[in-house]
Amino acid sequence: PVGAAGHPAPRGLDFTPVAPNAEDRVVVPDGYRQSVVIRWGDPLFPGAPEFDFDHQTAAAQARQFGFNNDFAALLPLDQRELTGLLVVNHEYTTEQLMFRGYDAANPTREQVEIAWAAHGLTVVRVERSPRDGALRPVFSRHNRRITLATPFEVRGPAAGGDLLKTSADPTGTRVLGTMNNCAGGVTPWGTILSGEENFNQYFANAEALADPRLSRYGVTGSATTRKWERFDPRFDLAQEPNEVNRFGWVVELDPHDPTSTPVKHTALGRFKHECANVRVAADGRVVAYSGDDERFEYVYKFVSAKRFRPGDSKAARRHNMTLLDDGTLYVARFSGDSPPEEIDGSGALPSDGRFDGTGEWIPLVSGNRSFVDGMTAEEVCVFTRIAADRVRATRMDRPEDLQTHPRTGVLYCALSNNTERGKPGKEGATEPNPRIDNRHGQVLELTERRDDPLSTTFAWNLFLVCGDPAAPDTYFGGFPKDRVSPISSPDNVAFDPHGNLWIATDSGGALAGHNDGLFGVPVEGRSRGHLKQFLTVPRGAETCGPVVGRQVVLVCVQHPGEVDGASADNPASHWPDGGDSQPRPSVVAVWREERGRLGDIGLG
Ligand code: FEO
Ligand code: CA
Ligand code: CA
Ligand code: CA
Repeated sequence: PVGAAGHPAPRGLDFTPVAPNAEDRVVVPDGYRQSVVIRWGDPLFPGAPEFDFDHQTAAAQARQFGFNNDFAALLPLDQRELTGLLVVNHEYTTEQLMFRGYDAANPTREQVEIAWAAHGLTVVRVERSPRDGALRPVFSRHNRRITLATPFEVRGPAAGGDLLKTSADPTGTRVLGTMNNCAGGVTPWGTILSGEENFNQYFANAEALADPRLSRYGVTGSATTRKWERFDPRFDLAQEPNEVNRFGWVVELDPHDPTSTPVKHTALGRFKHECANVRVAADGRVVAYSGDDERFEYVYKFVSAKRFRPGDSKAARRHNMTLLDDGTLYVARFSGDSPPEEIDGSGALPSDGRFDGTGEWIPLVSGNRSFVDGMTAEEVCVFTRIAADRVRATRMDRPEDLQTHPRTGVLYCALSNNTERGKPGKEGATEPNPRIDNRHGQVLELTERRDDPLSTTFAWNLFLVCGDPAAPDTYFGGFPKDRVSPISSPDNVAFDPHGNLWIATDSGGALAGHNDGLFGVPVEGRSRGHLKQFLTVPRGAETCGPVVGRQVVLVCVQHPGEVDGASADNPASHWPDGGDSQPRPSVVAVWREERGRLGDIGLG
C-alpha cells in the first residue's frame, strides 16, 4: 500500500483499513486471522466448572474468567513470545445480560455474589500454537482470579488513617477486593497497574450523609442499581461511611507471584482512575501518569521519591514495588496560546493553525506534606478531586488512557468526549477542549520540558480531533482527511514496537452505524495522522485492551450486545458463540496469515 503522498505505508501499518460496519462479529483486514482467546466463564483452574449460562454460581464464577474484560496486558515468558501471562481487568457486571429474567428490583444473593466474583482481574497463562497460530489459555500455577473478596494491602500517605478505617478493618490498611478496574499499565519492573474507575455506583445511601466530599465523586442517592447493600453492609454508607474511601485507587499486582498480596497505592491519589502508566526518568525516579475519566476532570502525574532498580531479581522487584508508596502527586493546568475568542467551540482551527500551548504541573501532596491550603496530606490523597479544584487545574474532556511514546517520550492523552461542554451552566470551549457538545473526543500530545518527565512545565498540542473526517470540526495531525478512517471516542491507547499509536474506541454509537474499533496511526514522519481502522468489534461492544506486539494483536471485546432494551431474554448479539447463544465478553487475538506457517503479525 502507498500513502497519500505516494510513499510506502509506515512499518507496522501495512494493512487495508476495515470499513465502518455494524456487523455482529470481529472484522479484521484481509490477510489476517483471528481467534477467541478466552471468554467470560471459561475455566481457569483444573476442576473448575465449564461455563453454563443457565446454571451459573458464585463458586464457579470465582474460578472462571470474569465479566466485561477491559484492559489487557501480555507479559512474555519466553523470547519467541509463544507463551505469556495474560492479565485482564473485569470492569463491571451487566446483570441484564448475565441472567435470564433478571429482576433488577430484587436480585438474589446468588446473583449478587456472582457479580462480586465476576469483577476484578484475571491472570492466565496463554500459549501460542505453532500449528495454527492461535493463542490459547492453559492451566498453570500463575493462573489467578482477583475478585471483590481478595485481600489488598493499602500503602502510602493515607494508609492506616482514620478516613480508611471501617468496622471490619480498624487498621485502615486491608481492603477486600477491587472494582470497576478500567485501563491499566505494565510497569518497567513487570507488575500490573490497574485503575479503579466508577466506584461511586456501588455505594448506597449517600444522601443520608449529605457530605459534599461524596457528591464531588458522584456518590449520591439512596439505593444502588445493583442493590449490593442488601447483602453486605459495607456497601451501605449509612452503616460503613468509610468503605467508599477504600476504592478509587491505582492497584498494583505482581502476576509472576500468584501468592502475592496486591496493593492499593494512596500516594497516586483517589479519583476515577482510568489507568496509570509509568516512565522512568534519567535519574531513575519513576513517573506515573493517570487520568480521571469523567467530564471536566483532570490529568495527574506522580513522581516517586526513590529510584528504579533494574534487573529481574526478587530483591529488585521487592524494591521497585515500593516506588509508588512515596513521592509527589501533581495535577495539570493547560494554557492555550491562541486568543480565547478564536476558540469558538466549533472546532475550527485558530489562526495559528493549531490547538496548542503550554502547561504546568501543580504539586498537590508529597509524602506527608500537603501543598493545598486547608487540607492535610491524607485528605489530599483521599479527596484528590477537591484538592485539584482548589489549585485550579484544567477541566478536560474525560481523560481516559495515557501512554508515553517509547522513543520520543511524548505523552498521548485520550480525551474521550464531553457532550456537556458548553451546556448552560457548564464550562465552554478551551483550547485543549475546543468543541462544545464534544461527541467524538480528541487525542492530546504532551511534551515535558526538555523531555524530562520530572519537569513541572510542558508543551501540548492536539494530534487528533476525532469524528467524521468529512466534517469540518475534525483534524488528523494535518494528514489529508480524505484518506483517514472515521473515529469517535478514543479510550485505550498503546504503542506498537515501531512507535505507531493504536487507539481503541468506546463511542456508544456516536457515529451512526459504526461499531467501535481499533485504529493504528503513525505519529511521526510524512504519514503522521494517517489513521486506519484495523478491526471492528461486534454490536454493542466497546474495544479495549489493546496489546499490539510483533507477533499478535490482542483486544478485549467488552460488553457485546449491550444496547438499549437488550437483555438475556432479548439478546442483541450472539458473539462469539453464534447461533442463538448469549453474548460473552472475550479477548480476541489477531495475527497475519503467512503461507500456512506461523508468521509474525506482519505489523513488524
Ligand atoms: Fe471505563 Fe474510562 O472507561
Ligand atoms: Ca494555538
Ligand atoms: Ca476505558
Ligand atoms: Ca470507556
